[in-house]
Amino acid sequence: MALMKGAIIFFVQIIGCMRLVTGADNNTVNATLGHSVTLPCVTKSMPQLHKQHMRVYWQHSLDHSSEPKVIQMYNNGDLDKKFQDPLFKDKAQVILEEIEKGNFSLTLYSVQESYQGIYQTVFMYKSRKTLDCTNQLYVGADFSKPNVSVNRCVKPMESVEVTCQTWGGLPMPSISWISNNSSVKLGRVETKGHQDPNNKTYAVLSRLFVNASSGQNFTCSVFNPTLGTTQESSVTVLACPITKPPFPFGVSALVAIIVVVIILVVVFVIICKKRNTSRSEVRAPATAETQMLQSGTTAENHTGFLDIKIV
Ligand SMILES: *[C@@H]1O[C@H](CO)[C@@H](O)[C@H](O)[C@H]1NC(C)=O
Ligand SMILES: *[C@@H]1O[C@H](CO)[C@@H](O)[C@H](O)[C@H]1NC(C)=O
Ligand SMILES: *[C@@H]1O[C@H](CO)[C@@H](O)[C@H](O)[C@H]1NC(C)=O
Ligand SMILES: *[C@@H]1O[C@H](CO)[C@@H](O)[C@H](O)[C@H]1NC(C)=O
Ligand SMILES: *[C@@H]1O[C@H](CO)[C@@H](O)[C@H](O)[C@H]1NC(C)=O
Ligand SMILES: *[C@@H]1O[C@H](CO)[C@@H](O)[C@H](O)[C@H]1NC(C)=O
Ligand SMILES: *[C@@H]1O[C@H](CO)[C@@H](O)[C@H](O)[C@H]1NC(C)=O
Ligand SMILES: *[C@@H]1O[C@H](CO)[C@@H](O)[C@H](O)[C@H]1NC(C)=O
Ligand SMILES: *[C@@H]1O[C@H](CO)[C@@H](O)[C@H](O)[C@H]1NC(C)=O
Repeated sequence: MALMKGAIIFFVQIIGCMRLVTGADNNTVNATLGHSVTLPCVTKSMPQLHKQHMRVYWQHSLDHSSEPKVIQMYNNGDLDKKFQDPLFKDKAQVILEEIEKGNFSLTLYSVQESYQGIYQTVFMYKSRKTLDCTNQLYVGADFSKPNVSVNRCVKPMESVEVTCQTWGGLPMPSISWISNNSSVKLGRVETKGHQDPNNKTYAVLSRLFVNASSGQNFTCSVFNPTLGTTQESSVTVLACPITKPPFPFGVSALVAIIVVVIILVVVFVIICKKRNTSRSEVRAPATAETQMLQSGTTAENHTGFLDIKIV
């Protein structure tokens, strides 16, 4: 009788002790999409546990109001997956030896967005709830380095549209615009996110409408609240070249220049040809003259010639 009373007191003490070490309430764990994560639940003191009196179950719910899904059960020394939700098939692991030491931590593999939510681990000893751990899991994925561009050059100050694109991340990030190292207060920002239906990652487009001067530098900063990471890229607004003629004029000027060059070439060719022909016409009599002259000089004694000269 006294022995039994002692045993009861002993168990109550164990339970009381374990209740005191139930420090794992409302723990937050942030995991990366596709990676693995361990949700802790450990009795800090390690009393002698008899596995025939132990029952542990692990469950998941999206929030405090939704129906929980069974992940795993431990009963009397065995793991029971009979009621396991298909969402966690081959993705959730607990270690038998650890359970029997009072470590009820749960490891999840290739974390999906749907794993986000509340994880509850309940430990029953001799049919009494002894430990109740709650872990809140958030799932995040890093965004790509943003692609930042500006739609136009300025002369010297004009309204521009600066766009920032980033993708592949989770959850919806917070986007901030920084110019010349200070946050952009003037200007309108439109940010839209599109969620991929399969892996729930976001593609985000943020547009900043602002009056910018040439040389002004705009930085798009993408902050992931779950992973605590920031990705950023910059673009510098360029000044429009001042002497650049408008496009149609440029083309017509080019055409005009080509036409003038062609005309000049044609005229030059014609002139050259004309000159050549007139020169040969001129040269023909000239040679005839010289021939005549030559013949004249050779035949200086020719009477007819002299006769003419005399005349
Ligand atoms: C845990 O968090 C929930 C909501 O986030 C809150 O209602 C509850 O009171 C918290 N419990 C403890 C023990 O802090
Ligand atoms: C509890 O078990 C997990 C594996 O499930 C292990 O990673 C962790 O280190 C253990 N914690 C303690 C305190 O033993
Ligand atoms: C980044 O933006 C530029 C200009 O909008 C575009 O040409 C380029 O393809 C983009 N890069 C990617 C990886 O989307
Ligand atoms: C930009 O501001 C940060 C602090 O806000 C400062 O540490 C940094 O030196 C500044 N950079 C330039 C180029 O002014
Ligand atoms: C998510 O899906 C998109 C499009 O289907 C893909 O481009 C991207 O790589 C995926 N991301 C991850 C982390 O699987
Ligand atoms: C740019 O400046 C003009 C004149 O100061 C103003 O009317 C206009 O609203 C500004 N635009 C933006 C996008 O701030
Ligand atoms: C930003 O810095 C550039 C280069 O230092 C400068 O040309 C421009 O005027 C600055 N713009 C503003 C709004 O301060
Ligand atoms: C724009 O400013 C950021 C931050 O000050 C700097 O890291 C970046 O190199 C600048 N980009 C250009 C193109 O000047
Ligand atoms: C974990 O993610 C939540 C939700 O995005 C966030 O509020 C919290 O700050 C994150 N914790 C850490 C340590 O980054």
